[in-house]
Amino acid sequence: MVTYRQYQPEMDRDSAHRIWMEVGWIDDREDKKEAMDLLLGASRSLVAEVDAAAECLAVSTEGTLNYLDETLPFTGVTAVSTSRVVRKQGLAKELTARLVAEDARAGALVSGLGMFEQGFYNNLGFGTGSYEHWMAFDPAELTVAFEARVPKRLTVDDWEAVHASRLARLSVHGGLNFLPPEITRSEMMHTKGGFGLGFFDGPEGELTHHLWMGGSDTEHGPYSVWWMSYQTGDQLLELMALLRGLGDQVRLVWMREPPNVQLQDFLKQPFRFRQLTEKSKFENRMNASAYWQMRINDVLGCISRTYLRCKTVRFNLQLTDPIEQYLDKGEPWRGVGGRYVVTLGPQSIARTGSEYGIPVLKASVNAFTRLWLGVQRASGLAITDYLSAPADLISQLDCCMCIPRPQPDWDY
Ligand SMILES: CC(C)(COP(=O)(O)OP(=O)(O)OC[C@H]1O[C@@H](n2cnc3c(N)ncnc32)[C@H](O)[C@@H]1OP(=O)(O)O)[C@@H](O)C(=O)NCCC(=O)NCCS
Repeated sequence: MVTYRQYQPEMDRDSAHRIWMEVGWIDDREDKKEAMDLLLGASRSLVAEVDAAAECLAVSTEGTLNYLDETLPFTGVTAVSTSRVVRKQGLAKELTARLVAEDARAGALVSGLGMFEQGFYNNLGFGTGSYEHWMAFDPAELTVAFEARVPKRLTVDDWEAVHASRLARLSVHGGLNFLPPEITRSEMMHTKGGFGLGFFDGPEGELTHHLWMGGSDTEHGPYSVWWMSYQTGDQLLELMALLRGLGDQVRLVWMREPPNVQLQDFLKQPFRFRQLTEKSKFENRMNASAYWQMRINDVLGCISRTYLRCKTVRFNLQLTDPIEQYLDKGEPWRGVGGRYVVTLGPQSIARTGSEYGIPVLKASVNAFTRLWLGVQRASGLAITDYLSAPADLISQLDCCMCIPRPQPDWDY
């Protein structure tokens, strides 16, 4: 007998820790458990209870998504985990579906997550995002022509300033912000060998730009830059110069390519070092991986906030949403499957229903979310995903949805 309900810390804390210990996300240390408690305390958390113990846990955290120049309400599914004793009984899928439904009802126009593998969350309507580039390089090879000043050290104690600095960073299309400051504190506590460097250049001495990194071998690395926040190009250059400054000792740094920047531009001889370090502990390389997913929770809400610089395109949208089959009968939010009349352009609008005499776009919510976000153009999705329309409409959508690659710039 399974009961789905809200997480209750007094009752479920130990079982929740046990789940995360079983999946290897924390160990028995108190500070790791505290980091987990902080995340749960600042988020919406649901559990599936089996034999009087919480055995499956799903967590989502409130945030915002930048869609072109708009800021939309968003929630990120920050953790889904099932204990060893109840795997493959459908608990994770059902609990996550309930979580997305609660978030949608609370006003999140879009939900997102970082996936462990492609396919699982596709069942709940999530579509795969853009490739993220993670680069491993020798910091001594950075060519950045900028001298960094002496930064301030940042530790977990600076979590509030660090969180504010993250929220104030340069915003880009697809950029995410998670709102509760405890999220940053939790992430900082969770970082192995975590440390930060930054500059407090704001008018009131606010932290304007910083990086947060860590690694298990403090002496020579590899280090990973878990995030970087800056408000101007010069601030990014100063942070890169700080990384270069570590290069006499640290042999390798991993970092995600910052939005709108080609990281390779900063490297002296990228191919030479890739060859010289191949298969070593300090291998220089570039990885591309599409590991985040998103889904629209409210078609009318998302379309009404879509302002495109294109001629108007009008079509019937027939949308399917696989999440419905995992929702409880009593759940009022049933996903976004259905028929809509959509107008995309400088002023976009959608309404439910259909209209005679305009073309039909058939899509899953997964594929439609990817189209709307700018992950892939309609002509590509028509080949690889569940999206189809007459050729004329596809080429109009290719023109119309020509928007920048979405870059969340916040992993979770
Ligand atoms: C991922 C995890 C949460 C799934 O928990 P679960 O309760 O066993 O999941 P469910 O029972 O709801 O779903 C399992 C089903 O999904 C299927 N599935 C797994 N990966 C899949 C994929 N990539 N594509 C499609 N289906 C997949 C399984 O085969 C299984 O189907 P079956 O029961 O027909 O064999 C669990 O394995 C876990 O806790 N893993 C470690 C932590 C983790 O990685 N969490 C996810 C973070 S994003």
